[in-house]
Amino acid sequence: MAYWASVFVLAALWPGALSVTRYSIAEEMERGSVVANLAADLGLELGGLAQREVKLDIFTNKKYLDFNKKTGELYIVERIDREYLCPAKPTSCFLKLDFIIETPLRIFNIELGITDINDNAPHFRRDRVELDVSESATPGERFSLPNAVDPDVGINTIKTYKLSTSDHFTIEIQTGSDGTQYVDLVLTKSLDREEKAVHKLILTAVDGGVPVRSGTANIIVRVQDTNDNPPQFDKQTYTINMAENTPIGTLVVNLNATDLDEGSNSEIVYSFTLYTSEKTQDVFTLNPNTGEITVKGTIDYEDMKFYEMHIEAKDKGAHPLLGQCKIVVHVTDMNDNFPEITVQSVKNTVPENVPVGTVIALVGVSDRDTGDNGKINISIHEAMPFILNKSSDRPTHYNLIVSEPLDREKVPEYDITLIARDTGKPPLSDNETITVHLLDVNDNAPQFPQSFYTIRVMENNAPGSLLSSLTAFDPDLHENQYLVYFIIEKEIANTSMSMLFSINPENGNLYALKTFDYEIEKEFLFHIEARDSGSPPLSSNVTVHIIIVDQNDNAPVIVSPWRAHGSVVEEKIPRSTDKGSLVAKVIALDTDSVHNSRITYQFLQVTDASLFSLDQYNGEIRTMRMFSYKDSRHHRLVVVAKDNGEPALSATVTIKLLTVETDVKAYSDMTEMPLEYDIFSDINLYLVIGLASVSFLLLITILVTIVLKCQKSKPNKTAPPSRNSVISESNSTIADSPLVSNDAYWYSLFLAETRKGKLVVRQPVPKGSRYVVSSIPRGTGLSETSDSAASTL
Ligand SMILES: *[C@@H]1O[C@H](CO)[C@@H](O)[C@H](O)[C@H]1NC(C)=O
Ligand SMILES: *[C@@H]1O[C@H](CO)[C@@H](O)[C@H](O)[C@H]1NC(C)=O
Ligand SMILES: *[C@@H]1O[C@H](CO)[C@@H](O)[C@H](O)[C@H]1NC(C)=O
Ligand SMILES: *[C@@H]1O[C@H](CO)[C@@H](O)[C@H](O)[C@H]1NC(C)=O
Ligand SMILES: *[C@@H]1O[C@H](CO)[C@@H](O)[C@H](O)[C@H]1NC(C)=O
Ligand SMILES: *[C@@H]1O[C@H](CO)[C@@H](O)[C@H](O)[C@H]1NC(C)=O
Repeated sequence: MAYWASVFVLAALWPGALSVTRYSIAEEMERGSVVANLAADLGLELGGLAQREVKLDIFTNKKYLDFNKKTGELYIVERIDREYLCPAKPTSCFLKLDFIIETPLRIFNIELGITDINDNAPHFRRDRVELDVSESATPGERFSLPNAVDPDVGINTIKTYKLSTSDHFTIEIQTGSDGTQYVDLVLTKSLDREEKAVHKLILTAVDGGVPVRSGTANIIVRVQDTNDNPPQFDKQTYTINMAENTPIGTLVVNLNATDLDEGSNSEIVYSFTLYTSEKTQDVFTLNPNTGEITVKGTIDYEDMKFYEMHIEAKDKGAHPLLGQCKIVVHVTDMNDNFPEITVQSVKNTVPENVPVGTVIALVGVSDRDTGDNGKINISIHEAMPFILNKSSDRPTHYNLIVSEPLDREKVPEYDITLIARDTGKPPLSDNETITVHLLDVNDNAPQFPQSFYTIRVMENNAPGSLLSSLTAFDPDLHENQYLVYFIIEKEIANTSMSMLFSINPENGNLYALKTFDYEIEKEFLFHIEARDSGSPPLSSNVTVHIIIVDQNDNAPVIVSPWRAHGSVVEEKIPRSTDKGSLVAKVIALDTDSVHNSRITYQFLQVTDASLFSLDQYNGEIRTMRMFSYKDSRHHRLVVVAKDNGEPALSATVTIKLLTVETDVKAYSDMTEMPLEYDIFSDINLYLVIGLASVSFLLLITILVTIVLKCQKSKPNKTAPPSRNSVISESNSTIADSPLVSNDAYWYSLFLAETRKGKLVVRQPVPKGSRYVVSSIPRGTGLSETSDSAASTL
């Protein structure tokens, strides 16, 4: 201040001191550059200056210029920065300096005008600017941007701003009243954060100098999210297949809705909408935060075949947005239901004769599963006389029908087990047992263990004695099994079998009602019937053959030689009889059976044992030698005829022999003319007799008639001598007597018996030369004989 004041004083003292020499130079001239030849401009001699003190006063803190005394030139010693020198950006910038020459003192005022050159680029104070812009900002909205500075002046200072290319932004420059330019960022198109969350722009400030200089700033526009995106599911509909009975807790689906927004605008809460049924919500649960759907209840195919869930995803924005989807769960069937058999109608009792094809039961099958799991195969467990036939109209219904004839006597009751098995994997099954009782039907006749009973009854039995028990068996039940026994009545020669025999109707015990006599009746043949009490009754019969067994109850009867009661037989024989001649023949008959009636003959007394022999079998008494005169004329022979019974019975005959001189023709000369029969067995002997009698009797009848007629007219011409004739007083039967007979005897016997209406037959004894003569009693006349004889058989 003092200095400036002094300069001012000096200027006042010296006229001419106020004249100012002005120069103009560009800033930033190189050091050493000559500004002007100051000496010349000021009219100073260089020689004069050499001895003088020269001083340059520059009123800055820097010495920019200096003066060369030798050349008188003003030159640059330090680069002049106009912006430094005149920071306030005046329109003109001067560097004032005083050029002082001493002794004499002279002061020259010099003004050095500094002209601007474009040495400064525009510059932003912050090279990075961050802007938060809501994505909901409308086009046209403005945002202030910081402006740049350029120390240069005039055209060298900022001329304009430019913005890097952007679809959404532009800039508008406004100039203030002081000429300052302000830059606004203008939104030209709506922002979408989801498309581009950050816009990086470059703002460039450009000056007007040559060359042009510029400065840039980074403009970072951060787009602030608004909740403009709803949550979205990948799919509108999710289709899921699940097996039924999936365990609780199983994950069904993890829903993953996306929200393009950010922050709470993208945070999603899941929920079922009202369109999701309560039932479905009982089965599935939804985690609101994770979107996981899990099984919560029992999934039953038979209950629900599919579930539909309507899901809503909601973000947490101030004005939340929604997204929706649908989930369809198709339940797949598992074989979890057992087949079921229902017996709709059943006949538990049927008669055993039920016809084949009769329906016993109606059976229905069902299985709540589907497909193979519900296909049922029904069968009968064991082989039985029943089959299942599918009703044609209803495929799950079957008729249980009888397939084979049934028989209660074999199987009285059936337990029919029906098994229904489905074709699932693994299969499930059910079974049902139907019990069928068979009712008895009278389909079995009583059965005797034998078809023919031969019962031997000893004659002289006590009346009412038990003969046998004939029990039949009937496999039917109840009244079909209750048997009644009775004798099938058949009139045989006026004899009713029920007068002879009696059967207990309840137990089949057979009794004899009378005492039998072998000599009268030898056998009976009749039928016994057993009849059940069914309706209609069934019966069967059995043949009973009663054989009366002989007892030795008849003593032999001596029929030849014949004698009156108690009398002695007297025979006369010629004294000249040869040795071996037949003297007499003793014939005894025994009415007992063959065995009991086998008779042997023995001498009980004989006057001369050397004279007579007795054949023990045929009863013939023959001479053993010729009679001599020494021999007595009278001989007494006692012969006993003894049968074969046990004990044996016997009869005796006493024969008195008188030897006479007359010639008597011996019987021994008589020729035998045997009636030959074949060998017969015991039983068919009678058969032959019967059969033979039919034809034979006719002949006999004729013969006998003729004989009788002849006897009346011509007395006994054909008859043998009286001692050999058979005149049986007893009217009894002569049967099975073993006789050794010659024809003479046979003939007499034949005649005697025939006269009584009896049939006599002779036949040879097996293995012997003897014969058996049989006499069959004839109760009735000859004309009826043949019929009666046949019927006894
Ligand atoms: C859900 O979607 C998002 C985005 O697409 C993904 O990152 C994530 O892994 C998904 N989650 C599942 C469980 O799929
Ligand atoms: C039904 O079951 C029976 C016996 O188990 C078998 O023999 C038959 O083949 C089965 N039928 C079908 C169609 O499966
Ligand atoms: C089973 O039924 C079919 C038709 O439904 C029929 O033709 C067939 O005769 C029946 N079988 C028996 C044994 O009844
Ligand atoms: C019938 O079913 C019962 C159980 O319900 C089982 O014990 C039995 O073995 C089955 N019978 C047959 C023949 O399958
Ligand atoms: C059967 O008996 C009746 C009377 O009792 C009698 O008239 C009839 O002659 C007898 N018949 C025979 C073949 O004996
Ligand atoms: C005995 O039964 C048979 C069949 O077994 C029958 O032919 C016969 O006539 C029956 N006899 C009598 C006498 O009923």
